[in-house]
Amino acid sequence: MTIAERALALIEDGSTIGLGTGRAATLFVKALGPAVRNGLKIVGVPTSDATAGLARELGIPLTTLDQVGELAITFDGADEVAPDLNLIKGYGGALVREKIVAASSKRFVVLVGPGKEVKSLGEHGKLPVEVVPFGLSLARRKLTELNCPPILRLKPDGSTYLTDNGNPILDCQVGLIADAPALERAILDIPGVVGTGLFIGMAETVLIQNEDGSVKEIHRADL
Ligand code: A5P
Repeated sequence: MTIAERALALIEDGSTIGLGTGRAATLFVKALGPAVRNGLKIVGVPTSDATAGLARELGIPLTTLDQVGELAITFDGADEVAPDLNLIKGYGGALVREKIVAASSKRFVVLVGPGKEVKSLGEHGKLPVEVVPFGLSLARRKLTELNCPPILRLKPDGSTYLTDNGNPILDCQVGLIADAPALERAILDIPGVVGTGLFIGMAETVLIQNEDGSVKEIHRADL
C-alpha cells in the first residue's frame, strides 16, 4: 500500500479537505482524482496555485477557506518530522498557506517518504521563513542575530523566488533546534515575518512510506 492510498482511506464521504503542496501531496492529489471520478464526494482547499491547477485538471472540486471555514482533514508533505511530530515544512515554498490550511483543519495528516524522519528538527540544516519584501533587510539582520543566517531563495534563473503570496523566502541556516517553540516565537517577533516552516503541535498523524513499500503510521495520540 502507498501512503496516498492509506490517506484516501481516512477520507469520509462529504468532507472538506485541505490539499497540500509538494511531491508527496501531489501523489495524494493524483490518487484523489480517480476516487472523485468514482463517486467520492469531497471538496478541496488547495495550499498553492500549483496544487489548485493539478486538482482542476483532475476534476477535483475546489472551494476557499472563506466559503467553508473549518476543514475536516488536510493532507500535506513535510521536510523534517521529529519524534514529537513537530515538523519543518516549506522547502517547496507554500509554508504560509499550508500552515493556514492545516490550522483550519480538525485533522492534519502528513505524508512523507523515507529520509524525512529526524531525531531533532534542524537536522537538514534549513528553516524557510517568508517575509514581506519591505521587511527583508531587517529580517536578514535579526535572523543572523538569532544565529539563523538567512539565504534569499532564488529561482533557477537567478531572480528572487516569490511565493504565491508575492513574498520572498529566507532559507535560514540552522543547526539542531533545541527549543522549536521559542525559536518560532523569536522569529515571528521580527516585524515583516509572515510565517516560518516550523509546524509545532499540528500534525495528528504521520504516514511514512518505507523503502520496502510498507507504510509506517505515527499518531500523536500514541506519543
Ligand atoms: C511545500 O512548501 C512544502 O512544505 C512541502 O510540503 C514539503 O517541502 C514536502 O515536499 P515534498 O513532498 O516534495 O518533499
